[in-house]
Amino acid sequence: MASKVKLNDFNSIRVPAEDLQKQLTAIFKAVGTPADDSEIAAKVLVSASVRGVDTHGVSNVVGYSISAEDGTYTIPQKTEVISESETTALVSGGNGIGLVSAYRAMEIAIEKAKKHGLGMVSIKDGHHVGMVAYYAMMALEHDMIGMSMTTAAPAVRPALGAKKMMGTNPIGFAAPAGKERDFVLDMATSTVASGKVGLARRIGVPIPAGWAVTPEGEAITDPPEGENEMWALNPLGNTREQGSHKGYGLSVMVDILCGVLSGGGFSSQLQRGENMSWVMAIDIGKFRDIEDFKAMMDDMIQELHATPPLPGEDGVLVAGDPEADAEEDRMTNGVPVENGQYAAIKARAAEVGVQVII
Ligand SMILES: NC(=O)c1ccc[n+]([C@@H]2O[C@H](COP(=O)([O-])OP(=O)(O)OC[C@H]3O[C@@H](n4cnc5c(N)ncnc54)[C@H](O)[C@@H]3O)[C@@H](O)[C@H]2O)c1
Repeated sequence: MASKVKLNDFNSIRVPAEDLQKQLTAIFKAVGTPADDSEIAAKVLVSASVRGVDTHGVSNVVGYSISAEDGTYTIPQKTEVISESETTALVSGGNGIGLVSAYRAMEIAIEKAKKHGLGMVSIKDGHHVGMVAYYAMMALEHDMIGMSMTTAAPAVRPALGAKKMMGTNPIGFAAPAGKERDFVLDMATSTVASGKVGLARRIGVPIPAGWAVTPEGEAITDPPEGENEMWALNPLGNTREQGSHKGYGLSVMVDILCGVLSGGGFSSQLQRGENMSWVMAIDIGKFRDIEDFKAMMDDMIQELHATPPLPGEDGVLVAGDPEADAEEDRMTNGVPVENGQYAAIKARAAEVGVQVII
């Protein structure tokens, strides 16, 4: 059964993507973010909303701009290379806007991959990076494979554990196709990203059993309020029989590449709002002809789509399909912004003294 935790015509208002880009850029600039960083931060948030990843989309401008204004974020920020080799870099995000430091780190990874086939960057001193797939997807226009991950403050219990110890630690992976849509996997290593619990609470719908549990291991369906020890998200797999050790293992892998390799800290060492991250770009042309690669990607995707569906299912998808469908709809019909968050963005624009244009 499809989840009811999503925006619809009753709980949201459609706004053109270009208006959101202008509005968000103006808000970031008004709180002291340089023009180019403001454009980047707005672009990442608008992209998430356009792709249907509403939990990590435009509404986050409110919190991020408050953090920029109150000094939680260092603005203007500097993405500083602390150490590097031809293919690797350790970068400090300068405690600025996480979206900007991850974007700059991926630019560094892509430049290294252009020269040496591979670029890998671990990022410390970072804040929330939003939809991680954005950075992996930056590789696509360079005919590269991109990967991105981030670690966050605890929200998820380890397999067999009763207390939250890891962040929702998502993994992004993007590979270009030819005629078919690019493959874009973007997944929390928990059953679901924690933002979806908040979204369910705001729009007044239950969460599916399996997303979250009490410390006694009882399934929660009434979306809990706030972060506390009375509930935890389940690792991907949820139960021992269904492989919760695998989601848990992937989550710790993310912590190692993002938090331990960078030295910025693993999940339980982080404050809420901190994200240590990791990005990688791989130049496909260093392995084989790019057109041959894309043609084989197309063959694989077409075969997967042609898999006979289970009874009652519409058909088999490939990662990135739901978001590409959302993008087609939203670029034509406008981007849905949750009613309360639409009002909050407008109020924030007025508060920082910029024209309200949405
Ligand atoms: N910055 C952070 O701290 C943080 C933490 C957690 C999650 N996030 C973000 O939250 C967002 C949502 O994460 P999520 O795990 O809830 O995502 P999700 O469960 O909605 O989707 C996960 C992936 O599965 C794919 N998918 C969906 N249905 C499919 C199907 N039937 N067949 C094949 N593929 C399918 C999607 O294309 C997507 O790549 C992501 O953008 C993630 O980066 C960010």
